[in-house]
Amino acid sequence: MCGIVAYLGKQKAEPILIKGLKRLEYRGYDSTGIALIENDELQVHKKKGKVAELETELSAQSFKSSIGIGHTRWATHGEPNDVNAHPHYSADQSLAVIHNGIIENYRSLKTELQKKGYSFKSDTDTEVFATFLQDVKTSNDLNLEDAVRLALSRVVGAYAIVILSKEEPDTLIAARKGSPMVIGVGKGEYFVASDATPIVEYTNNVIYLNDEEVAIIKSDSLEITDLKDIPLTPKIHEIDIALDEIEKGGYEHFMLKEIFEQPKSIADCMRGRLKMPEQTLILGGIQKYTDALIQAEKITFIACGTSWHAGLVAEYIFEEFCRIPVEVQYASEYRYRNPIVKPGEIVIAISQSGETADTLAAIEIAQRRGAIVLGIVNAVGSSISRVTDEGAYLHAGPEIGVASTKAFTAQLTVLSMMAIKAALLKGTITDSTFRELLNELNDIPAKVAKALTLNDKIKEISATFKDAHNFLYLGRGYNFPVALEGALKLKEISYIHAEGYPAAEMKHGPIALIDENMPVVFIATRDSSYDKIISNIQEVKSRKGKVIAVVTEGDVLIPGMADYTIEVPATHEALMPLVSVVPLQLLSYHIAVMRGANVDQPRNLAKSVTVE
Ligand code: AGP
Ligand code: GLU
Repeated sequence: MCGIVAYLGKQKAEPILIKGLKRLEYRGYDSTGIALIENDELQVHKKKGKVAELETELSAQSFKSSIGIGHTRWATHGEPNDVNAHPHYSADQSLAVIHNGIIENYRSLKTELQKKGYSFKSDTDTEVFATFLQDVKTSNDLNLEDAVRLALSRVVGAYAIVILSKEEPDTLIAARKGSPMVIGVGKGEYFVASDATPIVEYTNNVIYLNDEEVAIIKSDSLEITDLKDIPLTPKIHEIDIALDEIEKGGYEHFMLKEIFEQPKSIADCMRGRLKMPEQTLILGGIQKYTDALIQAEKITFIACGTSWHAGLVAEYIFEEFCRIPVEVQYASEYRYRNPIVKPGEIVIAISQSGETADTLAAIEIAQRRGAIVLGIVNAVGSSISRVTDEGAYLHAGPEIGVASTKAFTAQLTVLSMMAIKAALLKGTITDSTFRELLNELNDIPAKVAKALTLNDKIKEISATFKDAHNFLYLGRGYNFPVALEGALKLKEISYIHAEGYPAAEMKHGPIALIDENMPVVFIATRDSSYDKIISNIQEVKSRKGKVIAVVTEGDVLIPGMADYTIEVPATHEALMPLVSVVPLQLLSYHIAVMRGANVDQPRNLAKSVTVE
């Protein structure tokens, strides 16, 4: 959470920081601030609200500084207001600090500092660190970089941190532990950011900082050390992100752009992997562990949120095709439940951002106990992609909207490919089923494109239900996780309470909620549980619930029962979630827009949850 951006070079820093913060605003957006060195003074400008508000406030001034740091916050300690916004000065205002994460021992540090006579203006852990750093520096008579290393060695918690000092106005110091940080290396200039999005328009060369590394950045040098001052050799990676991938490209919101990108992102995800004339399927990233996967006695998926829903779909697919028992765990639970892990067991972590703190912690526990951990990750170079033993990237392109859409369908695509390939090698599906599944997979982008043509119809349905207070989403089998995902999409961006349930489970409780005001979305495509879900639709209709049904094209039964039907193209039932989720994404999008909600930056949320 939170976006960090910093610049050091020959250009004016302020416009680069503001532009970078706008690109990072999806990470945190309750307040914004920058620090610059103007006429030998360390200036901090910060404000509650969006980056554009700070930009307007600063527009009357002109800044010369060619060094600076910027931050867009997702509050953990102290409400979002002007004072708690970053950057934070140290007590003597000689240092300015931006921080992503949580300094867990900030209370004891604060008490220690208060005893020494320091006082604090904000409620944040970050301000405590800034003053702690100042105190470490002055009481030990250290230069800035030595002080940073010493101070950080006393910090417990997670951080990505950048420091600007009045006394060393040509130096930026950046460090990380548990929160992402990327350094862009340009010609005579450096950029630091939480991810590569603010950097790509200036340079493709980046260094991913690792945990407990400190970067000392000057205009003519970049040095990286560990916390004990041992020099490290940074590895420069070339990134491949086009500018139009991180811009809205004519769409009103990133979320809508990303929903409509799905035919392409799914195709990109299969490119080079699914080869149709040859009828082959190759997942290069996990080849080393293919045997272990096939022989696995159990597969455990760990993930959060939408990625966890992708894991649930994978559970059905792997069990059906590979006949391997699967467990799907919330990473946040797994990490604290003393999991039973057999050495060599397969654990698969799923994450769009590759930075989710709970998922990272769960991976660490699984690895410590001897598991082979594979990563299914979208963000190239992210922490999860680097700590997992092997993995497959989604290649869905950057996902900026906080509500995950194209990453979900890309996750399903990769997981389906993995399961289908493993099943073929294991001999649990026949060659002809393998070929049938490949053909179906190959057709998915076109079917998703067809589902997207329903946009206008879904917009009309959305208008009918935009004022509802509750929604129920029901599905069975492969479509049960789709129901959960549909409900999550709606609640996170429209703030309407929504619950997803296995359709048959409804009668064990939620049926009590049904009356003429309750919209119930059924994902009732033609599959092995079709007859059963029809009974569930009837149960809802008998209680006057309003039924919106996602059905397979050509369905003749359900349109006679449901109040609204949305017809999607047919495919193999195991791949249906790739298609049936699309109308649900559009439904939540339109309802949220009609309610005036900020769909790309929903309240209280952030794109990548890098704190516990
Ligand atoms: C999805 O719409 C959510 N914003 C959220 O549940 C998300 O899927 C979750 O935080 C996991 O993120 P990750 O995939 O980046 O690990
Ligand atoms: N813990 C810090 C705060 O509350 C940083 C939060 C963030 O990552 O934005 O200000």
